[in-house]
Order: sequence, then C-alpha cells, then structure tokens
Amino acid sequence: MSDKSSNQMWGGRFAAGNSDIMQAINASIDFDQRMAAQDIAGSRAHAAMLGATGIVTPNEAEAMREGLLTVLSEIETGKFPFSKELEDIHMNVEARLKEVIGEPAGRLHTGRSRNDQVATDFKLWVRDQFDAVDAALVRLMQAFLGQAEAGADWVMPGFTHLQVAQPVTWGHHMMAYVEMLARDRSRFADARARMNTSPLGSAALAGTGFPIDRDMTAKALGFDRPTANSLDAVSDRDFALEFLSCASICAMHLSRFAEELVIWSTAQFNFVRISDEWSTGSSIMPQKRNPDAAELLRSKIGRIFGANVALMTVMKGLPLAYSKDMQEDKEQVFDAADNLMLSLAVMDGMVRDMTANVEALEAAAATGFSTATDLADWLVRELNLPFRDAHHVTGALVAMAEKQGCDLPDLTLAQMKSVHDQITDDVFGVLGVHNSVASRTSFGGTAPSEVRKQIAAWKEILE
Ligand code: ARG
Repeated sequence: MSDKSSNQMWGGRFAAGNSDIMQAINASIDFDQRMAAQDIAGSRAHAAMLGATGIVTPNEAEAMREGLLTVLSEIETGKFPFSKELEDIHMNVEARLKEVIGEPAGRLHTGRSRNDQVATDFKLWVRDQFDAVDAALVRLMQAFLGQAEAGADWVMPGFTHLQVAQPVTWGHHMMAYVEMLARDRSRFADARARMNTSPLGSAALAGTGFPIDRDMTAKALGFDRPTANSLDAVSDRDFALEFLSCASICAMHLSRFAEELVIWSTAQFNFVRISDEWSTGSSIMPQKRNPDAAELLRSKIGRIFGANVALMTVMKGLPLAYSKDMQEDKEQVFDAADNLMLSLAVMDGMVRDMTANVEALEAAAATGFSTATDLADWLVRELNLPFRDAHHVTGALVAMAEKQGCDLPDLTLAQMKSVHDQITDDVFGVLGVHNSVASRTSFGGTAPSEVRKQIAAWKEILE
C-alpha cells in the first residue's frame, strides 16, 4: 500500500510505513498534545529515577532532564514541529529529545512503555481538572451565597410539579444549589483521592526487570503511591470515568438552575432579570431578550453525559491489559472538562449578575392558595383537629375561595365559620406569606432565621 519508510520509533520489524488512512485513525497527536506538559513532567521524573538507580549514568539523566525542558519550552512557545508520523505526544517528545541531546535520549524509554506513560500523563491531566473544577465550584457556591444573603427573607413560591405549593424564601432556594454544589465538590474530592496513584513503571503490562524505583517517581509527580498491579495500572481508566460521572452530575445541577432561569426570566414569570452580559437579542424581534447562556448551559449536560457513556462503552469490552481502544478516552474527557469549566464560569457570571424582581416573587408566592397548609396546621394547633380533618376543612375553604375567585386571606371570618364554626380571627395571621415562611423554623426549613444560619455556616466553611 505505501512506499513510506517504516516508523522510526517502532518500525524495526516493519518494511514499510502506514497508509495515510491508517495514520488518520491511528495518530493521536492532534489531541494528545494537550498532555505535553504532563508527558514531559513524567519523563523528567523517570529520567531522574533512572539516574538515581544507576540504570543510566548521572550525566545521561541530567542531559535528558535538561533536554526535556528545552522541548517543553519549544512546545510552550509554539515552535515544536508536531508530526503525525510520530503518532502521539510520547513519541513526538522522545524523537525531538533525540534531536536536541542525541544518544542519551534513546535510554529514556528504559523500564517503561507508552502504556504506563499514557496512563500517567492522562492521570496528571485529569488530576489538574479535579483541582480546577473544585476552585470553580467554590466560586459558584459563593455566588449563590451572595444571592441568598441578599434575599434571605424575600418570599417566592415554592413549587412541586411546577405548581405553586408553599411559600419559600429566595435565600432558601439559592441555598439549595449551595448544597448540590457542595455534594459535587465532595464527589470530585473522593474521586481525586482514589485516583492519585502512579502507573509509571508498570511498563507495558507486566512490570520490568530493571531495578526502577517507583516510589521515587510517584513522589516526584505528587502521587500518593505507585499502583500495586501493573496489569490494572495500564488498563485502568476509572479515574477518567469517575471524573466524567462527577462532571455529569455537576452539569445536571447547573442545567437544573439554567432551566429555572429560563422559566423565571419569561414575561409570564418575571422573577428575575438576567443581565445584558448573559442575554442576547433577536435579529428579527427587537423586543426580545433571550436567555441563551442559560439554554446553552442546559444543553451542555448532553455532551458531558455523552462523554461518560462513550468512555464507558469504550472500556466495557476490553480484556486486560492495554488496548488501543483506550486512546479514545482523551477527546471525550478533554471536551467534557472544557465544557464543564466553561459552564461553571458562565453560571457564576449569571448568578452574580441576575436581579430578582422582589415584588413579582412576593405576588406570585401568594397565588395558588399557597398558605393552605398553614391554615390546616393552624386548625391542628389551635383547634386540636386531627390533621386529616384539618386537611378536609381547608380543602373546603380552598374550594370556596376558588369559586369566588379570591385567595384564602380574602375570605371573611363569617365565610370561614360557615365551614368550621370554631375558626377565629387569629387564623388570618398565618395566611400571609411572610408569616408562613417565618413559621417554618424546623432544621433545614425555609424560615429566614434558619436560612441565615445556613448561610453563616457555609460562609465559614468556604473561607
Ligand atoms: N497514543 C496511545 C494512547 O493514547 C499511547 C499508548 C500506545 N500504546 C501502544 N501499545 N500502542 O493510548
């Protein structure tokens, strides 16, 4: 098929090179060059270890380490000649090192393989993402905390089935997202703790006969310890899958608030105004303000979840140990990480900039007989009715109000008494939305006093 000469890195047993189409499916350099810094860090740790253990001379080790820095600076300044023929970042770097330092470069790959090398590089890359996501989550939690603090006692409707259910406070609603994001942080942190082991030195799959020091390379790269089974180490992508599944859940949370923003910013709801920075106009309808950023956030979950499913599918049928299928791990994770980071930044901006329409929230909070449960509770508390009976009486009062086209507080005492004659004037005290929320002081409830406690506790945690 091809008259190209065989691959300079592994072509010893080959007479000819790959066809162009083979190169197109085989080469990963177009995307795995994103791991250049990690590849070079891994190689520098490996070179130092080869020198320290006497597998290469100290001079050779030093030449490799210095040369790798030169290669890194070429990559960072855009001067590096990436080559598709050299397939991936590992062979591109090693081939260039050979040009820069000559013969010692040929000893760098002693006691390792691209299989442990790629697992190491990718772990280092994903580990950085765990850290970046954590910092972004903290910022976003602070943004929600800011909103919660501003409106700890603003009342708004709480919904179930997207039907008005009971009044809640704006602060309480914002703090619900703080809780979700806190669980996200904790999930990412668990996964990060589990993944921080070094595959380097597992070699192709079976370990190596060279007297390498895996603790030394693990330590140099910030890993807790070396992986304990070389077969597992080169074929494990759980760390990437855990990142993707944590990312999927986190993006799902962002998507839920994005959906609320889309609904809340409609003319019909008019609960919030998304700032100009995060809205777009229509090219034909001059009056429009579209919540495009929120809509895009809502859709990002699709590709992040897609990446999770894609990599699960790649991995599910692979016998031990490494198979080339695993090269398909990177683009999915790169894309998911990029889009999660972008989504977190966008959500942060929108949350900080959005303005709640406090009057509209309060007016909506009173609709839909939202204090009916307060009325039933009052009947239980003051008249000692069993809750079931109180529920029934309240239902009758709601039906009466509905028939007259008014809200519960608009009924007269006489009308109330016609349903249950022991009802007194006091009942009107619990029918207002502010009284309603103020009364819900159970731990985790919507009362402003409770919400303020939660805000204070989270502020301390995040400081
Ligand atoms: N480019 C490969 C990857 O991303 C590197 C490992 C190749 N190993 C091999 N035995 N062909 O997975």
